[in-house]
Amino acid sequence: MPFAVQNSNIESVIITSALPYANGEIHLGHISSTYLPADIFGRYLKLDGKEVYHLCASDDFGTPVLIETEKKKIKPEEYVKYWHDKDLEDFKSIGIIFDSFSQTSSRTNIHFVQYVFNVLKNRGLIHEKQVIQYYCEKDLKFLPDRYVVGRCPYCDATDQYSDLCEKCGRIPDKILDPKCAICGIEPVKKETNHYFFKLSNFENELEKWLNENMLLQQDVKKYVLNWIVEGLQDWDITRDISWGVPIPNTNEKKDKVFYGWFDNHLCYISCLIELVGDIQRAKEKWNDSKIYHFIGKDIVYHHYLFLPAIRIGINKEYRLPDLIPTRGHLMLQNHKISKSRNWYIGLRAFVDLFEPDYLRFYIASICNYSQDDINFDWNSFEEKINNELIANIGNFINRTLTFIKKYFDNKIPRPEEYDDEDKKSLEEIGNIGKIVGGLIASNEIDKALKSILNFSSIFNQYFQKKEPWKYPQGSGSTLFVSINAVRSLSLLLEPFIPFSVEKIWKQLGLQDNIHEQRWNTIGEISLNPGDKLGDIEPLFKKVESDNIKEQINKLNDR
Ligand code: 2FM
Ligand code: ZN
Repeated sequence: MPFAVQNSNIESVIITSALPYANGEIHLGHISSTYLPADIFGRYLKLDGKEVYHLCASDDFGTPVLIETEKKKIKPEEYVKYWHDKDLEDFKSIGIIFDSFSQTSSRTNIHFVQYVFNVLKNRGLIHEKQVIQYYCEKDLKFLPDRYVVGRCPYCDATDQYSDLCEKCGRIPDKILDPKCAICGIEPVKKETNHYFFKLSNFENELEKWLNENMLLQQDVKKYVLNWIVEGLQDWDITRDISWGVPIPNTNEKKDKVFYGWFDNHLCYISCLIELVGDIQRAKEKWNDSKIYHFIGKDIVYHHYLFLPAIRIGINKEYRLPDLIPTRGHLMLQNHKISKSRNWYIGLRAFVDLFEPDYLRFYIASICNYSQDDINFDWNSFEEKINNELIANIGNFINRTLTFIKKYFDNKIPRPEEYDDEDKKSLEEIGNIGKIVGGLIASNEIDKALKSILNFSSIFNQYFQKKEPWKYPQGSGSTLFVSINAVRSLSLLLEPFIPFSVEKIWKQLGLQDNIHEQRWNTIGEISLNPGDKLGDIEPLFKKVESDNIKEQINKLNDR
């Protein structure tokens, strides 16, 4: 177990989720590697009484955005705002809560990035160098990254970007048959002046930080340390394009900006500056908090090397990460998700078909804390929802509530003297909060959900064994213990299936909002005899096999 927040004295926690590029919709892969684990973690910490800031923003800069807007003949500002708003709506639709969802193109971030650059420059950590770049003599511009297309040197696929082959997923070292992505002519090579961040200066400090930070995932740490052994290259942080954070104090103001990966991670801090209102207070808050950056494994280099090096480079004005939970990719029916090949499920499309909690439940149940890829499988989705969420959790809640309604006029009955079964069950209630809390705090959300399912199935067995239907009037203890277990269960489930928990909470007749509840009350028996319950409604609807078949066919028809 890497750590347990529960034992920490620091009450404030800053969680960041990797910033989604503002040029496409959120899909299930993003949700499983980053946003859902971060949201579950944050919701748990909030319930546990911590002061939590979950920060995120749209990643607005970069050549893909510029190319799209040139094609569409719209302003980049308009384009990124569209995706910013749409992504935020999509996140909300599945209950991903951010305390701030800003934009890397915000004034605050632009100022902050320029400030960081100036500090690094004044400390001698930036140097200038002439580099050779592709240049299009027709469009009269340099062609960084995605502006050049060509043949992939690895898999021979044509029409691939110079910074990513979508066919084989590799980054071409040198694209073959280069062409300008705008007009299609062959570019020439031309000299240009770029700024470099002296990443190579930080090898020792990064190594020390990695070795001393026991919370970082061991397997990730191992290969990051290997990169350091192989030697770190200084990092080109500028691009000859017009869309990005302008470089301060330079004569080359036109068409030269910072590379998106120089500014985007700084936006984590800018989000907090915007949220608390000024830079000084943000700095204090940042440094008084634990810092957790949630990411997918494809951006390890940026978060384990660039990001800490820059924070060290500005004199550690801002605390370095305590933990960088890093997860693998989501496969779809055992194949790599690919938007260009249409092997893909958009978040919006999913939520139009199924309850958002079904997605949260299923993903959480397969989301191990490792860099191994996990697999979204439609049949296993159907099975887990119908057999675990509905037949186990839904069944226990429903049978308890319906029984009290039917035999006790919807009022919680008074327990009689407890027998051994009741006492054992009360003990289960007393222990479960710590077990599940410890697992979520250690990022083991799949295991945490398993423990909750186990708790629910213990109570199904208890109910079954006690057979309250045989003599309802003598079943006060069973129903009293069970209804209190339902309350505990709903608190345990809040980080996982918050929409359903709102419903359970109402059915329990509790008018307080679930968010005002505390994790440390999970073990309490706080529902009292005589308390009136709310109206009962079905919590879940079975997933139909025909619907699942349709989804599988849809994928195979692409
Ligand atoms: O890889 C990506 O999707 C990037 N937009 C992530 C950026 S995270 C950053 F801000 F550190
Ligand atoms: Zn051109």
